[in-house]
Amino acid sequence: MYKPADHIIIIFGASGDLTRRKLIPALGELQKLGLLPDRFAVLGVGRTNFDDTSYREMISSHLEEPGEIIPLLYYHSMDTKSEEDFGGLARRLDQLSQELKINPSYLFYLATPPSLYETIPRLLSGAGLTREGKGIFRRIIVEKPFGMDHRSAAELNLALLSHLEEHQVYRIDHYLGKESVQNLLVTRFSNGIFEPLWNRNFIHHVEITSAESLGVGTRGGYYDNSGALRDMLQNHLLQLVGLVAMEPPTVISSDAIRNEVLKVFQSFRPITINDLPNQVIRGQYMASHVRGEAMKGYRSEEDVPENSRAETFVAMKLYIDNWRWGGVPFYIRTGKRLPTKVSEIVVHFKPSPHKLFSDHEGGTVEGNRLVIRIQHDEGILLKFGMKVQGAGFKVQDANLDFHYKDLSDSYIPEAYQRLLLDCMQGDSTLYTRGDAVEAAWRFVDPVLTAWKEDKSIPLHGYPCGSWGPEIADQMIEGKEYTWRCPCKNLADDGLYCEL
Ligand SMILES: NC(=O)c1ccc[n+]([C@@H]2O[C@H](COP(=O)([O-])OP(=O)(O)OC[C@H]3O[C@@H](n4cnc5c(N)ncnc54)[C@H](OP(=O)(O)O)[C@@H]3O)[C@@H](O)[C@H]2O)c1
Repeated sequence: MYKPADHIIIIFGASGDLTRRKLIPALGELQKLGLLPDRFAVLGVGRTNFDDTSYREMISSHLEEPGEIIPLLYYHSMDTKSEEDFGGLARRLDQLSQELKINPSYLFYLATPPSLYETIPRLLSGAGLTREGKGIFRRIIVEKPFGMDHRSAAELNLALLSHLEEHQVYRIDHYLGKESVQNLLVTRFSNGIFEPLWNRNFIHHVEITSAESLGVGTRGGYYDNSGALRDMLQNHLLQLVGLVAMEPPTVISSDAIRNEVLKVFQSFRPITINDLPNQVIRGQYMASHVRGEAMKGYRSEEDVPENSRAETFVAMKLYIDNWRWGGVPFYIRTGKRLPTKVSEIVVHFKPSPHKLFSDHEGGTVEGNRLVIRIQHDEGILLKFGMKVQGAGFKVQDANLDFHYKDLSDSYIPEAYQRLLLDCMQGDSTLYTRGDAVEAAWRFVDPVLTAWKEDKSIPLHGYPCGSWGPEIADQMIEGKEYTWRCPCKNLADDGLYCEL
């Protein structure tokens, strides 16, 4: 890895949770690793009245190890909606550049409420802050949510692209910054053994789970307008589907990879109102006891209306209508207050065509499964049938198991570290492109519309600490198949599980 050229990162929303918990710690880690530019500063921006010193103190108080990043922090107080104040920001940036004796690139990070995602780029452009020069870049990272539906996402794209070029816009999906997600590409495209099998002839179905054991906490106000489909499925889970299902790119370049992901999204079979009962299940967590501890139901959470219909769980079956995946179902699910925090992709291969061993010795010979663990304990697990020692031919599951943490030089960077570094280096591979974001919204929009308009579509309650509504367990076709239970399997695999 090489260091990016001189940069100032300007964070809008510098007093917020994301900045304190993710962005500054990620920059601190890059600093420790010697990966920040030689001449570098962070300018926090917001309405809160800090100066450089009090801002550094506030951030320090939130960091476990404040370290050497703190002297690189500066603060500029302004109204992020005022055109005039952006002139002041431009002057402050000039002044800071002179102090540091640099002619830096600027990376603007929008960590504000989404209502400002159109305003800030427009005002930055008006103040001349988005004009690039030779070797001098002006880039903007836009946080999620990128729109609330297809129309608002398209409008946001249009607004951004009327002030910036696509190559200046970095739409963040922090799942793509995870090491194990990137490893999916390497697993598929650098190993000769998987790709020949990676299609409808050998794969029975694909399953993706992203579960959280926590509830909405203090984010009830935001979450209630979003729900699990918007918050997780439309972006993170569909991106994972894109990487599992894409064709091999011609080269490892941002455009080549993102072109292939877009084609997957364009091949999703639309979900119609008639498909909904079989293909999309939504749920909401209800009060219950988990290991003796009383847990609130979603509707009793802070800032959540008592008649809320927001889904805290969603499971979907989708099809990709193309040559490779014709007829192969992808099952994806996500939810809050599930038994554990886990994200994994499970590729279920078809069982062997002739079951020599399964019947007469009572063993089970499920098809092989390739499990790609994204969190916890990132790694890859291949499940295969092995003979039980002794007489006869009883078969049991065995594991070929790789854990990242077992590598002697194991170091798994936080997603934001990788993504911030990539952006400074102008590499947008792990960011989502505007056309793909719109294609993903186009796919989920009919579901959102149906939920909004047809109140008879059930919202199933599920107890905290369960795997969502029971009806979601019946989605997977074939009597020998259910969702892989990460808890049971995590325990079998000798891994961590919260229950
Ligand atoms: N927190 C996370 O883990 C997380 C994860 C993924 C995505 N995100 C996204 O990142 C963005 C920031 O999230 P956050 O959790 O850091 O939010 P937050 O804690 O509420 O912080 C938002 C910041 O925006 C600033 N702001 C500027 N103009 C504002 C306005 N008109 N109204 C309210 N605040 C204004 C506020 O600073 P001033 O009052 O000083 O201006 C505040 O510090 C959101 O869009 C969120 O969806 C957050």
